[in-house]
Amino acid sequence: MKHAEIEEITILPGRKKDGEAEDFGSIVITLGETISIVGPTGSGKSAFINDIEMFAQHDTVTGRTILVNGEHPPEEYVRDPSKKPIASITQNTQCLADLLVKNFLEMHARARKMVDCEVIQKTIDLANEFTGEKILPGMKVTELSGGQTRALMIADATLISNTPIILLDEIENAGIFKDRVIECVKRFRKAVVFVTHDPLIALLSDKRIVMKNGAVEKVLTPKEEEKPILKRIMLMDKRMDVIREKIRQGESICD
Ligand SMILES: Nc1ncnc2c1ncn2[C@@H]1O[C@H](COP(=O)(O)OP(=O)(O)O)[C@@H](O)[C@H]1O
Ligand SMILES: [Mg+2]
Repeated sequence: MKHAEIEEITILPGRKKDGEAEDFGSIVITLGETISIVGPTGSGKSAFINDIEMFAQHDTVTGRTILVNGEHPPEEYVRDPSKKPIASITQNTQCLADLLVKNFLEMHARARKMVDCEVIQKTIDLANEFTGEKILPGMKVTELSGGQTRALMIADATLISNTPIILLDEIENAGIFKDRVIECVKRFRKAVVFVTHDPLIALLSDKRIVMKNGAVEKVLTPKEEEKPILKRIMLMDKRMDVIREKIRQGESICD
């Protein structure tokens, strides 16, 4: 099975922290969908996305099983990092020190055996869709702001890692245009799973998985009643980004 052939992944239940069986049938994540995982610290959010990353086969702490297109995934997904159809970004993901943006991307493209010679510029252009602070090829990665770094990571996962599935575990998402990231998920037909407490991302997601005691407690889908609130949160979020940027630039905030 090549990356291009993946259409969906299925999560089959395992057990809760207390050993009881998890009570959901199955969860299907289809390419083009945005999923958010919510729940208190320690509730099993990271364990849930680790299961996806490892293609768990009843062999992780949770006892869950992951299927690809309804079948057990090929072993090479787990064994061979270059065949792994998943890119994962965590708080610990960092750009390599002291490289220029273009060199960093070139290095990664070479490692991924990417042949498209325009991919570097495309990645920078995509990252610039996600952030208002323009990224240039000649900037040092260590000098990028938090928002620029996150925008670049997501663009890099989308075009250079070019995997159908992207996992983001509690990366801070201040300073990126979340609605554009989610629109991009659809445009490039990726499945993206966010572990997040960000109300905007949670409300923009196609599914919201709620975790408790190491188990999936429920799966919510967007409701009509949430739409007016979503609109207000989008405006608030934009305003927050402006204020955050002003503070970063050392300006005073007045109304
Ligand atoms: N279903 C489970 N059964 C047993 N241990 C679990 C289960 N889910 C999570 N854990 C363990 O509980 C701890 C907290 O889970 P974690 O996924 O890190 O929580 P979160 O990311 O929500 O803060 C971890 O040590 C994890 O391995
Ligand atoms: Mg966690």
